[in-house]
Amino acid sequence: MSVVSTNSIGKPISRVDGQAKVTGQAKYAAEFNVPGLVHGFVVSSAIAKGRIKSIDRRAALAVPGVIEVLAHDNRPSVASLHEKYTDEVASPGSPFRPLYDDKILFSGQPVALVVAEEFEIARFAATLVGIEYEAEEANTDLDTQIDKAFEPPVKRVPGWDPSPRGDVDKALSRAPIRIRQEYRTPIEHHNPLENFGSTAVWEGDGRLTVYDKTQGAPNCHRYLCNVFGLAKDKVRVLSPYVGGAFGLGLRPNYQLFMAVLAAIGLKRSARVTLTRKQMFSLGYRPQTIQTLTLGAEDDGSLLALRHDVVANASRFEDYQEPTVVWSGALYHCDDSAVSAKLARVDLFTPCDMRAPGGAVGVYALESAMDELSYAIGIDPLELRLKNYSEIDQNEDKPFTSKALKDCYYRGAERFGWSKRKPEPRSMREGRELIGYGMATGIWEAFRMPTSARALLAPDGTLEIHCATADIGTGTYTILTQIGAEMLGLPLEKVKVKIGDSDLPAAPVEGGSWTAASAGSAVMMACDGIRKELLERAGKIKNAPLKGAELADVVMAGSEIRMRGDPSSAVSLTDVLIGLKEPIKSEVTSTPDRKVLERYSSYAHSAVFAEVRLDEEVGMLRVARVVSAVAAGRILNPKTARSQVLGAVIGGIGMALHEESVIDHRYGRFINHNFAEYHVPVNADVHDIEVIFIDEREPHLNPLGVKGIGEIGIVGTAAAIANAVYHATGVRVRDLPITIDKLLGLGPPAGGSSQ
Ligand code: MOS
Repeated sequence: MSVVSTNSIGKPISRVDGQAKVTGQAKYAAEFNVPGLVHGFVVSSAIAKGRIKSIDRRAALAVPGVIEVLAHDNRPSVASLHEKYTDEVASPGSPFRPLYDDKILFSGQPVALVVAEEFEIARFAATLVGIEYEAEEANTDLDTQIDKAFEPPVKRVPGWDPSPRGDVDKALSRAPIRIRQEYRTPIEHHNPLENFGSTAVWEGDGRLTVYDKTQGAPNCHRYLCNVFGLAKDKVRVLSPYVGGAFGLGLRPNYQLFMAVLAAIGLKRSARVTLTRKQMFSLGYRPQTIQTLTLGAEDDGSLLALRHDVVANASRFEDYQEPTVVWSGALYHCDDSAVSAKLARVDLFTPCDMRAPGGAVGVYALESAMDELSYAIGIDPLELRLKNYSEIDQNEDKPFTSKALKDCYYRGAERFGWSKRKPEPRSMREGRELIGYGMATGIWEAFRMPTSARALLAPDGTLEIHCATADIGTGTYTILTQIGAEMLGLPLEKVKVKIGDSDLPAAPVEGGSWTAASAGSAVMMACDGIRKELLERAGKIKNAPLKGAELADVVMAGSEIRMRGDPSSAVSLTDVLIGLKEPIKSEVTSTPDRKVLERYSSYAHSAVFAEVRLDEEVGMLRVARVVSAVAAGRILNPKTARSQVLGAVIGGIGMALHEESVIDHRYGRFINHNFAEYHVPVNADVHDIEVIFIDEREPHLNPLGVKGIGEIGIVGTAAAIANAVYHATGVRVRDLPITIDKLLGLGPPAGGSSQ
């Protein structure tokens, strides 16, 4: 099966859901209104560790309009076993059980839910709930826990800390050039614009319809069935539109539990939304302390590589991300070893955040590579090319495809890399020091089992059904394009239904695998329709298509015809005459095991950044970024560019702005708002150029795609940090690069920066 023509695939089509979004017709989880809806407001724990001694509800219940104050001591019955609270992307451990008992595991933990007739009443009454705690000392400072770091006994995914190859110590000892540095990345919160919210509609006949902000309606559906002991057909979870998530919607979050708990407890429809501050009580990118050791020949050839990381985990789950795996796969190096350890702190469990592991691990690797280039006196780009790897040495496998060299060449050319003067502080314009930096990006190209259904109605309209989500990534649009392409229909004739646990099963929308997974499933489902259409076409009296095989025909312009013979065309309308019911085709698409055994597969990028530092006012800005991406076939250059643009902006945030600061005395994030948690705004974002390299991907999936949701952030922070060094001669190894660090100052007095 292959895509036969290019009517819609590969075209820069505007989002098919764009109009619904800008006109407000696209409804988000907390916008579904039903009569009699009650509103819950979460009371958050004021301590980071200990237990609840007592809850005084009297003042809250006395407020007119307050219905109930639910907490561990009066809630409806829920599952007790931790395993019941697990989900498809959970890490090993004991998942958090909201309102389960009196134990406090992290600051901001939900401890009660005030339910009222109006949101404002619930929010006010929540301030009146009197909670008495018995506090224990909490430790949220990773630095104090390093000596207790451990290798997680149960791995989240095997292969994320590959076994050593060669003899790294021996290779290091004979390396004429050595680099060994510590790099640190802080906790970051995802901060999607849409706050988490859930509306649980009590249908009155024993069924619940739940609108949730999630990247996986089926994942949340299973969670609710397990936690509340509900039959599968009594619950339906929908997430038609999601206002950003960046990974935070991969696991069910506690507002979902709360809304359903209130609905079941009160036998009424209930909504729970979180405030921006409460969003800081959900998952986050973990803090990492990484050590990179490189040994090289005088000419830059890598002899030895070691990458060690300690990241924070919670006390109850061993969240793991593949921080060090990339270091063994990106460059040719025969002697290499990595280690990944966790250390427990009294915080909530971290959660995958855009390019989990890759964003931080490749920052360290690519910073160290930059340092090596200066130590040797070789151009940073030349150093990468010198150590280019034609195989994945982690797995000793060839790549399904790898057009990284083209990323380097095309990116460098577009950026004007050749204008770079090698010496730090050697480029200047007026008051501004100018720096050029570059880095490589790499991200896994996955494909997951996914089901999809295609329905072609007698009037020639196509419906696509799949439970996957669109978190702003363009899933609606690319699935529409694939359906239109396969059956030769105009885009307007294709309707995509996703984000619904009643639809054919899909994994969470993440890992940059949705185009490859849901896209392939939709393609295969449509292929089933093509077969049936051709069969019907062959039965038409005097049909020119009698006996034709699928490979011989073209479906385009709402017609079926023999390839190369326009006179053989039969209109779709004629083929569908007399049809009473839609033609239906449903498939489950799975990755090809042989391909997985034989090959490794990654998307790659080369990122080039120009920074400018105004020396007089100390203002640093990222003036230009060129990101050249090789990710197989690009289904839609417009939505794909948008994905990479957003990810590059995430990389700017990582490099210069984002950091969740903890006051360790209270074990609490203290910049839990958009005033003090800085993300790049328009004034921080200047020229970004995205180049897609033409990369033929023959093995992974019938579409030839690799996914582009995450590759854009990987390498970006390193390219910027490397540019900052080139501009200033100051190497900051502790993100974000704030002005105090460039001036060589410590953290601000009285602060408790991690
Ligand atoms: Mo992504 S962090 O898998 O949503």
